[in-house]
Amino acid sequence: MNPFIYEYPVKTFFGVGSVGKHLGTLLRGYGENILLAYGGGSIKKNGIYEELTAILRESGKRVTEFSDIMPNPAYRKVQEGAELVRRHQIDFILAAGGGSVIDCCKIVAAQAKLEQDIWEMEFTKHQYPDIWVPMGAVVTASGTGAEMNNGAVITNEEKKIKAGVLGACADFAVLDPAYTLSLPMEQVISGAFDTLSHCMETYFGKPEEICLSDEIGESVMRNTIRNIRILRNDPQSMTARSELMWASAMGENGILKIGKITDFQAHQLEHQLGAYTDCNHGKGLAVIHPVLYRHIYRNHAARFARFAKEVWNIPEEGKTEETLALEGIQALADFIREIGLPTSFTEMGITEESVLRAVADSSNISAGCCKKLSREEMFEILKECL
Ligand code: NZQ
Ligand code: ZN
Repeated sequence: MNPFIYEYPVKTFFGVGSVGKHLGTLLRGYGENILLAYGGGSIKKNGIYEELTAILRESGKRVTEFSDIMPNPAYRKVQEGAELVRRHQIDFILAAGGGSVIDCCKIVAAQAKLEQDIWEMEFTKHQYPDIWVPMGAVVTASGTGAEMNNGAVITNEEKKIKAGVLGACADFAVLDPAYTLSLPMEQVISGAFDTLSHCMETYFGKPEEICLSDEIGESVMRNTIRNIRILRNDPQSMTARSELMWASAMGENGILKIGKITDFQAHQLEHQLGAYTDCNHGKGLAVIHPVLYRHIYRNHAARFARFAKEVWNIPEEGKTEETLALEGIQALADFIREIGLPTSFTEMGITEESVLRAVADSSNISAGCCKKLSREEMFEILKECL
């Protein structure tokens, strides 16, 4: 295991009814000017907006609304939010939504305190914010685990880059599984696959020998797979929704990453695909993962074989490491099909090779734990995804 420092700053409130139970008290700790941030309007249809605004009113807060944050939030939206925060002298940002709303607010919170443009600051000068307007997150869609960390994924439409930007860390996160009841099942599943993806990207990182974080990761993966199946048969199951919501948080609260270097090449490819096509994050990942893994498994065959045994419960019985590894990847591909996620870019409406060339040419290449991909390999993998 690599040396590590672990600190967990987000106070987390979990359970049905937690917003009504805790939010009013939590808000007492902040000034009276609140920015209530949300997406395209789902919270106005499912009663969450009424509940939040009633609590804000009772707490005597003055509310400014920041609405229409789009899925895959755009950098121009961040600038709009930062301007609102400055103009209304906002003391606290309450983000109510999924990963997109929460991510947008993390960067709004930091940009509002900065004289300079945060994108230029991070990507040109490699400097990162250390102050921000305090914020809290009310999670309405799980999967990204965005409420648990200070990284935000933002699309800079002008530069055609979708990338991780570091911003605020929420002071608190409220996770009420009942808030996800109105989420279309398609989004529930693609979010849950994102959780599985975060676990896999960490599991196939370094070092190669198994560690406690990996064994916890196996457990989160098994739990996610089981609860996706339960929820597909019983969409009202609050037990399955609760498990998936907490698994989502576990995927990104740093615990699985303790002592590890993570891979995240599937994410880097998917994010750039998002920059060019605005596609759904979980769906893009579902297409990329099996293709990527067939390409790299030989470089870490023992771990892929263990993935087959421990996560997919595939019996070992005299098989070679390679056979077992491939059976595990096939089990992942079969599961993706079983739960109705796309198995090709074509199914997602992405058909042009020139787009994939641009994605391969502009993707940020990380450490690449099993195998660092060359641009040509990325292009080949993306073409196979068609
Ligand atoms: O905008 P509204 O009207 O609210 O509708 C949203 C949106 O259309 C809807 N929705 C959310 N809660 C709902 C609901 N509809 C009905 N009932 C509810 N309770 O769901 C749609 C998708 O929402 P979005 O926030 O975009 O989904 P998700 O949570 O999957 O977030 C995706 C974004 O997070 C980034 C992705 O790249 C993408 O931009 N990620 C963020 C990460 C992080 N910060 O740690 C890590 C991830 O790997 C990921 O990259
Ligand atoms: Zn993700």
